[in-house]
Amino acid sequence: MLLFNHSFQQYNMPIEYSAHSFNYEDYFRRSAEFLGRHRWIFEQSNTKFVQAGILDALPRTWIEDFRRASNEELNQIPLARVNEAWCDDLNQFLRTMDGLLVEYERKCDGCGENSKMIRGISPKKLYEIQNLTSLIGEVCDRNETFLDFGSGLGYLSQSIHSVHQCRVLGLEGDRYRVQAALQRQMKLFPNSMKQVKYAQHFIEEDSFERIQESLKSEFLEESNPIPLAIVGLHACADLSITAIKMFLSNASISKLVIMPCCYHKLAFGSTDTTFKNFPLSDQLKDALEREPNFIGRPFLRLGCQQTSARWKTMTAEEHVSHGLAMFERSLMEAIIESDQRITKRKDTSSSNLLETYQLCDETGARLEWSDRHRKRLEELRNNYSEGGQLAEYLTCLQTCLQPICENLILLDRMCYIETEAQRRNICIRSKLVKFANDNLSPRCFVITAEKG
Ligand SMILES: C[S@@+](CC[C@H](N)C(=O)[O-])C[C@H]1O[C@@H](n2cnc3c(N)ncnc32)[C@H](O)[C@@H]1O
Repeated sequence: MLLFNHSFQQYNMPIEYSAHSFNYEDYFRRSAEFLGRHRWIFEQSNTKFVQAGILDALPRTWIEDFRRASNEELNQIPLARVNEAWCDDLNQFLRTMDGLLVEYERKCDGCGENSKMIRGISPKKLYEIQNLTSLIGEVCDRNETFLDFGSGLGYLSQSIHSVHQCRVLGLEGDRYRVQAALQRQMKLFPNSMKQVKYAQHFIEEDSFERIQESLKSEFLEESNPIPLAIVGLHACADLSITAIKMFLSNASISKLVIMPCCYHKLAFGSTDTTFKNFPLSDQLKDALEREPNFIGRPFLRLGCQQTSARWKTMTAEEHVSHGLAMFERSLMEAIIESDQRITKRKDTSSSNLLETYQLCDETGARLEWSDRHRKRLEELRNNYSEGGQLAEYLTCLQTCLQPICENLILLDRMCYIETEAQRRNICIRSKLVKFANDNLSPRCFVITAEKG
């Protein structure tokens, strides 16, 4: 057992982020170099790492250090605590990672609770709605008309109307959600019908004219609906970038307060190895050009994977069962043919791994497990007798890289806003704010921008 109380150390102070003074070029260059060097940790999806031989890429010395670490030490690794008893290159990995952590402006002040809002909403969601509503109040003016991008069931639209008494147009691509939002409004917020409207609209970069038409028809008897503010709670994948681009290109939109999510769902670009909206900034594009390409779906997925806030609280038993589940899932993927698929069976509690998965062909037709599958499974199990532990060490390293991947994704957007605003001669103030309660809501970043 290591005397980690004495030998654990944290080296660097996190870089403090401020949109105007942040050195994007330097950060992107250092992060891209670090992530490029350690891309083996995340380049494969977590169902494919056995097949891709990633467990063999784990340095033997790192495995030894992980194996000797107590549960508390394992939990502290993604917090960049180095240990002088560990091998130099693991400590170097942690120090470099530490030097790439960024501290964002934090916010945490739930706004006044509203019992109607609480019904059916989880504490996490309620926390996010309340804090976003409060942040919107700080950035925006209640005379603005709010466009709630991806309004879903209308949680944010109703909350900002209740708290700030403002006019809101919820725009949502899914017509069933629009109907559900209207029903919820009639039931819980009947007095808001004049001020809060919902429209089915799949928002794209050239949607602004259609949005203006919706504004005119929905708020017919009201005064001029501009200036406008775009807001959004969990504006997933490309939607938050569409919001950024629309904000930059239309003078009548004066504010933007958007919480992005689901980076891994970003749309592909012209090929299925590039993304339409990532990277956005020339600064990140330049930095990435110097490194081997590591930008793929697994990189984006890692950006929104579990954070160190959850990892640091895991018990030894939780690590064992998580590592084993991850290893077994990847093991099963490694024994099937390229034209076969597996799905987890819900109708069995068998302890036989093969019986817990259904094998299918490409058309979805069920197949039986063959002796060939059984033989491969046995070989791989023999090969990786500590597979579950190794899978958990790999997860630990992924958790170390998670904030850096997420930083690249978010800072690319911030850099793009800054540079694009300068290019268009628009004076803006932008911020990246993190809601502070990591335990309740570990991923909660909000991009804000104000013109003028
Ligand atoms: C993660 S949900 C968030 C819903 C809601 N804001 C909330 O937090 O409860 C994202 C919503 O955005 C909608 N959406 C995604 N892309 C969209 C687009 N381009 N235009 C309109 N709605 C979109 C989805 O249908 C979904 O309802």
